[in-house]
Amino acid sequence: MSQVALPAEEILLADWTQEIKRSDLQKMLAVASRPGILSFALGLPAAELFPTEAYGQAMAQVLANDRRALQYGPPSESLKSQVVELMAIRGVTCRKEQILLTAGAQQGISLLTRLLLNNGGQIVTEEITYTGFRQVIEPYQPEMLLVPTNATTGMDVDAVEWLLKEGARPAFIYGMTEGHNPLGVSMSEEKRRRLVEVAKEYRVPIIEDDAYGFLYYENKPPPPMRALDESWVLYVGTFSKILGPALRVGWIVVPESLIPKLSVIKEASDIDTATLSQRAVCAYLEAGDVQSHLAMLRREYAARRDTMLRALEKYFPSNAHWQKPTSGLFIWVSLPEAVDATALLRVAIETERIAFIPGQAFGTAGGFQAISCLRLNFSNCPQEQIEDGIDRLARLIRAVCA
Ligand SMILES: Cc1ncc(COP(=O)(O)O)c(C=O)c1O
Repeated sequence: MSQVALPAEEILLADWTQEIKRSDLQKMLAVASRPGILSFALGLPAAELFPTEAYGQAMAQVLANDRRALQYGPPSESLKSQVVELMAIRGVTCRKEQILLTAGAQQGISLLTRLLLNNGGQIVTEEITYTGFRQVIEPYQPEMLLVPTNATTGMDVDAVEWLLKEGARPAFIYGMTEGHNPLGVSMSEEKRRRLVEVAKEYRVPIIEDDAYGFLYYENKPPPPMRALDESWVLYVGTFSKILGPALRVGWIVVPESLIPKLSVIKEASDIDTATLSQRAVCAYLEAGDVQSHLAMLRREYAARRDTMLRALEKYFPSNAHWQKPTSGLFIWVSLPEAVDATALLRVAIETERIAFIPGQAFGTAGGFQAISCLRLNFSNCPQEQIEDGIDRLARLIRAVCA
């Protein structure tokens, strides 16, 4: 039987999809996630640290006791209560009525964007930012108002204030408070306070992406911006980095008055957050071991971070720069200008079977392109392979710089 080819090129696509292209970088990163590659690339948590046993028990208990766990269903009120308790650990007081459960932080950002942003509207974000955020906003073709990020104190709040003073009226400001992806930096307490003040003064909401908020490695950090204001800060949280991304469960904390509209937007998107996942996460949290699990994650990731930092110190050229991240899963390295990190990645995959993400992947048109920067992930690589991997990468860098 002969197959009739679909006239794909004749199907008219929405205008904005012209922008969607699978870049060379994406192709290389697909190769980078194959077995046999030592990957410092993706932001994956360590699979060997997932609480599989406890989670298996929670899942079995849910399935044994409640057939509706496999049914469509309203969001779990018990899970919302557990989220209220988790938020209290982060120093945030909130109520169940202010919580919308989501299929992860990515969906949280997406639903809030849908709620706030008109086509062609303005938004404020950092020049170097989380790539998933850029994907969310692309269909709206917004006007991007870009601000720089300080390597030790985070988003340049003066630049945000200047934009607003000059008359910009963005739909929102997007930022990450703890363990910025990709820069690794956490916002200083003073900047958290000032950004909230600026947002309130100019009546612009902040989308606070706190995907890494529970993964800190020094003293407990100051609370997120949501602790400072419950009207203008729209908080995004997730279980992905602490329990497992495959659960696809997260949450947002917003003013109660926004929940009805957000619920409709959520329903249009995927009807429910997977009922089984919600109930299993809830049963896991109710079993009461999450605090010790978080403490274990912080210990393990801090050890991997420190191993990577020591190796960078030992092997990387002295004119390379990085900061010690106090939270999150990434170290951002600036190499000498002679290095094109995308070209370096190609060689690193081909010759050493090592992967990382070139800084360029996180740049935004019109902003800093970070050509000679790279993002290194330290969570998803076995501790004993980190030093060797950094040593081999450093040799390639020295060869390029020579
Ligand atoms: C900053 C940031 N926000 C959101 C997400 C999406 O997380 P989730 O798996 O909860 O959708 C990620 C994932 O890497 C992230 O790094």
